[in-house]
Amino acid sequence: MVRAARKERVERAPAWMMRQAGRYMKEYRDLAVKHPSFRERSETTDLICEITLQPFRAFQPDGVILFSDILTPFPAFGIDFEIDDYKGPMLEKTIRSAEDLKMLHDVDLSKVEFVGESLSILRREVGDDAAVLGFVGAPWTLCTYIVEGQSTSTYKTIKSMCFSAPDVLHKLLSSVADALAVYVGYQIDSGAQVIQVFDSWGGQLPPHMWEEWSKPYIERVVRKVNETHPGVPITLYANGNGGLLERMATLPVDTIGLDWTIDMADGRRRCGDKAVQGNVDPVVLFADQDAIEKAVRDVCAKAGPTGHVLNLGHGVLVGTPEENVKHFFDVSKTITY
Ligand code: CP3
Repeated sequence: MVRAARKERVERAPAWMMRQAGRYMKEYRDLAVKHPSFRERSETTDLICEITLQPFRAFQPDGVILFSDILTPFPAFGIDFEIDDYKGPMLEKTIRSAEDLKMLHDVDLSKVEFVGESLSILRREVGDDAAVLGFVGAPWTLCTYIVEGQSTSTYKTIKSMCFSAPDVLHKLLSSVADALAVYVGYQIDSGAQVIQVFDSWGGQLPPHMWEEWSKPYIERVVRKVNETHPGVPITLYANGNGGLLERMATLPVDTIGLDWTIDMADGRRRCGDKAVQGNVDPVVLFADQDAIEKAVRDVCAKAGPTGHVLNLGHGVLVGTPEENVKHFFDVSKTITY
């Protein structure tokens, strides 16, 4: 995976999935009955390692993504949160004014020691059989939660702030970006070999607004990490990024993640010299095995033999049959260059 992200020669496209661990796996659901709190599952070293390794043992993917959340580092810079099983992330206090910004403080990595510990253990456990992936949310995507206080379908409050309180929002994004650069460095020091930046809600911005409100802050994180930890491949993913690809490709990242709403051949062309990842519609995993094999072969053919990381266009959906996830990985291993 590391070689593929660097566009070096590989034998076949390495494969992993976003939300590789999670509710579609029975083993995970059973563990979640015993440990019903998501905060506990994602903040206890033993549980993090166990959950991360569940899909690794079941499917032998080429990448192992730390079981964690994009909100996990929030308490390390002054923001508390809860995860509700149905509603998702919930924040008691939001940041919408200059006064609210006082809540933020410099990163205190001692609040996320379980992340570093888990990455070190995982690196030892998977050895050279797979790459260990660390990740962060992009500043814009994280700020949708910090400003809105929960998931949203319209992004009304934060987008309004772009017009009504631009200075506050720029300061908030800057502080979050600086904290994330430290947090990513810590993940790499602890064992992460590839970093994925999830700008999951970047595609909710019109492209000219993404240029102002998301891109510079991703750049701020990536430039700092490239400076402190050169050579570690960074992937940038945004959901709904069909209108953003050329703009994303101007960032100093190695790989661009594609959702499923564009053709891989077009995506490949539009991402210039970057490696590409993703693009398989997560719903294909509900189809029969021939359809899955066809989708994998199709995306590999269109992406070509260099700089391709095989993945879905977004995370594995709840209810996905586990045997179909296995089939995806099994097929991937038969498509050699
Ligand atoms: O989905 C994406 O676009 C990826 C980026 C992202 C993550 N968390 C990474 C993640 C986003 C946008 C979130 C926020 C979040 N956290 C949500 C979505 C809410 C919304 O606004 O739509 C939810 C439901 C959570 C809480 C959460 N995170 C749960 C319940 C789980 C467990 C897995 C499951 O499906 O039950 C997670 C895990 C998680 N979030 C991982 C990652 C990368 C785990 C690593 C993996 O296996 O991929």
